[in-house]
Amino acid sequence: MRIGILNSGGDCPGLNAVIHGVVGAASKLGWEVIGFRDGFEGLLPPGDYQVLDPEDTVGILKLGGTILGTTNKGHFAAKMGEGTKAEIAEKVIEKAKRTMKQLEIRALIVVGGDGSLSTALQLFKAGFPVIGVPKTIDNDLQATAMTFGFDSAVSCVVDAMDRLHTTAVSHKRVMVVEVMGRNAGWIALWGGIAGGANVILMPEIEFSLDKVATHIKEREAKGNHSSMVIVAEGARTPEGDLVTQENEEGAEVRLGGIGEFVASELAKRTGKDTRACTLGHLQRGGAPTSLDRILGARFGVKAVKLAEEGRFGRMVSYQSYHVSSASIEKAVHKLRLVDPESEVVAAARAIGICLGD
Ligand code: F6P
Repeated sequence: MRIGILNSGGDCPGLNAVIHGVVGAASKLGWEVIGFRDGFEGLLPPGDYQVLDPEDTVGILKLGGTILGTTNKGHFAAKMGEGTKAEIAEKVIEKAKRTMKQLEIRALIVVGGDGSLSTALQLFKAGFPVIGVPKTIDNDLQATAMTFGFDSAVSCVVDAMDRLHTTAVSHKRVMVVEVMGRNAGWIALWGGIAGGANVILMPEIEFSLDKVATHIKEREAKGNHSSMVIVAEGARTPEGDLVTQENEEGAEVRLGGIGEFVASELAKRTGKDTRACTLGHLQRGGAPTSLDRILGARFGVKAVKLAEEGRFGRMVSYQSYHVSSASIEKAVHKLRLVDPESEVVAAARAIGICLGD
């Protein structure tokens, strides 16, 4: 028996832990694992891959990135987001099928987020024996309570907040920190609560800059001369616009710049010295946290189990501290956003965090 694994989309701390879990569990069954390079692109004939023996995965659990490489571009790229569908050309699918047949791959484990799992679903419908593993720092996949990589991104945000806090206090400044997460505010919300933010701005909650400015001025009046504002890259301006950057033609829109915008508007409205800091890809790089190592390894083991049981079209899912599975269909095409009425949002408000509304 031979199975394949590929990572697709943006990289994410914990990818190597999944590979470690898959190779470990598969070798116990006497199966061979083929790792396709650079996402689905590795499936194109003649196939770009490497055989993954247990020795190849020694020591990779703790490494960031992925030993297999990944891409969010190429022949199989599906746009992410609400209501999007992967539409991979038939010719490309046929080519990938040929490679699968030639290599006698009996199960293909796809480790990806919404876009990559949409592609995986299309391949499954075209007859590929696909198993999904939910990956994204954005934590925005349906059908799982958590994706691996999210905890590492949040821990990077918290570390940055701790550092920025001391300089903000020293200079009596307002510090605006822009974080990733695309159209979901999970990283901003969790990073903001854990990092001691005074203001959190997210795509899910419309904000008013005047209200944020009033909150900062009220803090000032009480003797708190510095404030920490965290803003998700996908938060819209009060006019409802997304702040974006140039990206290659046909590629997913690139978010970024809202931090600078919010900082300059707050400077005008509060008269305070204000600085913006964009954390960017720091949030995706580096070693995974212990939680992401454990999640990754468990997700990899579960993916092999699903393959053993022939439960194709399923995605590994994390629910109530248990690793189970859900259909890939249920996980994609609709993002899991922060519920403004949820307990965690209420908790943020209860501890005095301003959400700008
Ligand atoms: O989806 C993960 C993510 O890191 C988003 O949070 C971010 O908007 C995007 O990928 C960045 O993508 P790229 O690496 O192509 O700049």
